[in-house]
Amino acid sequence: MTKTRRVHVCQECGHQSRRWYGRCPACGQWNTMVEEVEAGGVDAAGRGYGGRHQGWLTGDAPTPVSVLAAVEDEDGLRWDAGYGEINRVLGGGFVPGSLVLLGGDPGIGKSTLLLQVAARLAAAGRPVLYVSGEESAAQIGRRAQRIAGDAGALDRLMLLTAGDVSVIEGHIAAQAAGGAAVIDSIQTVFDPDLSSAPGSVAQVRECAARLLRLAKATGTVIILVGHVTKEGGIAGPRTLEHATDVVLYLEGDPHHPYRLLRSVKNRYGTTRELGVFEMGAAGLEEVPDPSGAFLRGRPEGASGSVVVAGLEGSRPILVEVQALVAPSPYPHPRRTVAGLPASRVDLLLAVLERRAGLNMGGQDVYVKVSGGLRLDEPAADLGILLALASALTERPVHPGTAVLGEVGLAGEVRAVPRMDDRVREAARLGFARCIVPRGAGEGNTGAAGQGRVVAVATVREAMEAALMGR
Ligand code: TYD
Ligand code: MG
Repeated sequence: MTKTRRVHVCQECGHQSRRWYGRCPACGQWNTMVEEVEAGGVDAAGRGYGGRHQGWLTGDAPTPVSVLAAVEDEDGLRWDAGYGEINRVLGGGFVPGSLVLLGGDPGIGKSTLLLQVAARLAAAGRPVLYVSGEESAAQIGRRAQRIAGDAGALDRLMLLTAGDVSVIEGHIAAQAAGGAAVIDSIQTVFDPDLSSAPGSVAQVRECAARLLRLAKATGTVIILVGHVTKEGGIAGPRTLEHATDVVLYLEGDPHHPYRLLRSVKNRYGTTRELGVFEMGAAGLEEVPDPSGAFLRGRPEGASGSVVVAGLEGSRPILVEVQALVAPSPYPHPRRTVAGLPASRVDLLLAVLERRAGLNMGGQDVYVKVSGGLRLDEPAADLGILLALASALTERPVHPGTAVLGEVGLAGEVRAVPRMDDRVREAARLGFARCIVPRGAGEGNTGAAGQGRVVAVATVREAMEAALMGR
């Protein structure tokens, strides 16, 4: 039995519906719904839909396995990605047969990173094919020699410039089956049987689905590059995230050398880990000691500078927050914030006003996180607040002090997760003093032996403890 489904797909957001709407019910855009005939296939979870009969088991139908057997299978098979930072984010390495999406802004370093990974995988003896629809083979080859020449296996790293998905499938099956293939980028891949342009939702979805089937069928790791489009999603927003096993993003401030690799979806592990790289003359280099790197060049003894003991996944990371406060020449003072949610800064300013008696009215306020990093954790609250207070009062924070704690609206300082790990990281980097929340964490801190821990209950106490006298 052959079934086909007729669907209307929004070309903006990928929303699907049986009926046509003039205005997409999901994203509200007008005239974006296009009718498509969806042939049968396998969805992202490997389930068949349409097309094929779904009835009785046939000879090659999948068979159930026990939980333990399933887990052992997967962990035993993981491959080293060649970079510890990537293994960390993947949860221990690549899983064969997985489709991985690497997203990021144009120019952030996706091609660089994957070329380096491809070279290391080739050096480890795996068949690897790097497919590009964006650059010529000569361009890629020259770059590979420059940034990955020391991997010593460039004769085994195969390059292909192509866009037709059937051609790409054929070469992956012939050259890289059981190994790895990089597709740079999925937006340049197309199925000539579809009338829509490369990069459209219909093309991207169809090509990704075909590559997913190929990855599963051949046990090949297929890594897709996806540029983040202006709308913020990848190639017809979110369409690809559902169709892939692992979704990674490479992020960073283009004006800083640091690049952060995060996973936002991982069928094989957590999505909490962070990988840190630095862009240099020889491509991306791992940063094994991010705290040390982020704190380099910090102005010691300057007002408005505070070191926050943050946490990224399982790893404590120390970062510097800087604030500058100056009387405003404008009727509406400025609030300029980089690397933090602006609303958090507003909230902390209100707490300073009402609970610590500082007058922030009429002041321009600038806050930034060093290294192009983002601080989204509530545990950074107290550090941000102290940076603001320090900037306003022009009283520097005592040297060698790191800060952690969440701030409540009543001006209370609240406990945060994994205090001991954070304090230990601060001690490792030579911070002699940590300002921490009193209460919940107290008593269980084996951290007390790690330098001096000053426990505070309110933002006023924290300011007393942190800021130097004038
Ligand atoms: P690229 O990997 O081409 O970005 P993407 O594929 O995400 O669009 O990286 C482009 C940027 O990286 C470019 O601005 C130059 C910089 N870069 C270096 O600084 N050093 C290097 O060795 C390489 C290869 C790139
Ligand atoms: Mg690129």
